[in-house]
Amino acid sequence: MEFKGSHILSIRQFERGDIDTLFATADSMEPYAQRRRVTRVLEGAILGNMFFEPSTRTRVSFGCAFNLLGGEVRETTGFSSSAVVKGESLQDTARVLSGYSDIICMRHPDSGSVADFASTSRVPVINGGDGPNEHPTQALLDLYTIEKELSARGRNLDNLRIAMVGDLKFGRTVHSLCKLLMLYKQVSITLVSPPELAMPAELVDEMRSAGIAVEQTDQLDQGIARAHIVYSTRIQEERFASVEEADMYRGKMRINQSIYTRHCEPNTVIMHPLPRDSRSDANELDTDLDDNPNLAIFRQADNGILVRMALFAQVLGVAHMVDQYSHDVRWHHRRG
Ligand code: CP
Repeated sequence: MEFKGSHILSIRQFERGDIDTLFATADSMEPYAQRRRVTRVLEGAILGNMFFEPSTRTRVSFGCAFNLLGGEVRETTGFSSSAVVKGESLQDTARVLSGYSDIICMRHPDSGSVADFASTSRVPVINGGDGPNEHPTQALLDLYTIEKELSARGRNLDNLRIAMVGDLKFGRTVHSLCKLLMLYKQVSITLVSPPELAMPAELVDEMRSAGIAVEQTDQLDQGIARAHIVYSTRIQEERFASVEEADMYRGKMRINQSIYTRHCEPNTVIMHPLPRDSRSDANELDTDLDDNPNLAIFRQADNGILVRMALFAQVLGVAHMVDQYSHDVRWHHRRG
């Protein structure tokens, strides 16, 4: 794909070579993400961050990533603070905001809404999650994390065995990650969910046609038994018809240290896009795993900065100039 000037709406836009390019750029962002060096390569540029659904990681890490490249961020959060509540269409909103920004990140509760917005935008638009459909930048940072975690354990993506656990029907992160994994060979995916929250059948069929070995089960212990990566997900309460319906599934696929010790192979990596639901009736990823060195969830969230910096640098065509406009920080840098 041609990164420069492109909208990033779906993970399907990416080929293997694009992923390699992006991840090499992400690696080069480490001194800046760790605040050891400063770059001003995007000085004067403005990111329009438009989040019509709640977000902590995606919204803040997009903003931090842009700031770390020297650009500025303007945010709109929630429908109530946007003229969309007065009946303005997404297309008109895009026509206006693309005059104020050099790139726009957007999250919205409806599938296809970000593409709809992008259709009239004069600047690149990045999908920060459109309803249950896709979350492409999460899939990119997830794959980046999988590669890093496997590499630290002497493995690579070949023959990857991954178990995806939880709400696979509404979870957009797993939808995007499955589409991305179709680019890789000899991948095995075990889908672990209540039958009512199974991965959409058409996506399962597509993965099988692409050569992925897919198993489906509602038995957590069997599903996670041989995995290199266990990718847990939250019950997506906001996509259910009622809270009571979501309550029926909360806590059904709970992983804690005891379950991990009994059923996972040593060094199995635990991932989660976050937020994990830590309320007692859910607790899908127990806090008793927090001292387990194989719990990668916060390294995964940190990687969001690197990958999103890389994406901005590529889409705005400045990846080759980041170091040129840089210097060491003049204050002591963070530890750890
Ligand atoms: N993973 C993720 O999308 O988190 P937020 O909802 O906090 O952005």
